[in-house]
Amino acid sequence: MSSLLQGVSLYLIGMMGAGKTTVGRLLAQQLGYGFVDTDDVITQATGRTINQLFAEEGEAAFRQLESDVLAQISAHLKLTVATGGGIVLRRENWSYLRHGLIVWLDVPVELLYTRLAEDTTRPLLQDPDPQGKLRSLLEQRQPLYAQADLHIIVNEGETPEQIANRVMEAI
Ligand code: S3P
Repeated sequence: MSSLLQGVSLYLIGMMGAGKTTVGRLLAQQLGYGFVDTDDVITQATGRTINQLFAEEGEAAFRQLESDVLAQISAHLKLTVATGGGIVLRRENWSYLRHGLIVWLDVPVELLYTRLAEDTTRPLLQDPDPQGKLRSLLEQRQPLYAQADLHIIVNEGETPEQIANRVMEAI
């Protein structure tokens, strides 16, 4: 077992499109950990998509569900957790994230935008200027993401396997 992780859970944070789910699954395999995606837990528990939840209940209700799910997840050890990009916004979420090791997957905004350009599943990007919205979200959140234990800067062209290997080396 790695020296930093010591059997606690690994939380991946970062913007939408950063690859938290793909890299998280790979890390879970390599660590022999379970894998959880907070958005998936929310959609399974409510029977609604993230878009539906934002449209029908509003963002604040979604954020409460997200905190509730994170609180439950944080009671477990040995999970790799892909979190929603906005998990860093609520102060209470940090007390749950700190149950484990927090890794920020930091992807350049241009690359994020390329990945998300055709995406219709992210309600926050249903905006007349989705690229500008992505930039402003990142600007607002960067100081929060920076509170992670580990900062992994993802390079263009890097595969999920390569990123997962770099995380494995760092933990
Ligand atoms: C959000 C990110 C999404 C999802 C929701 C809000 C955000 O998760 O939770 O659309 O505020 O950045 P991903 O980061 O998995 O896309």
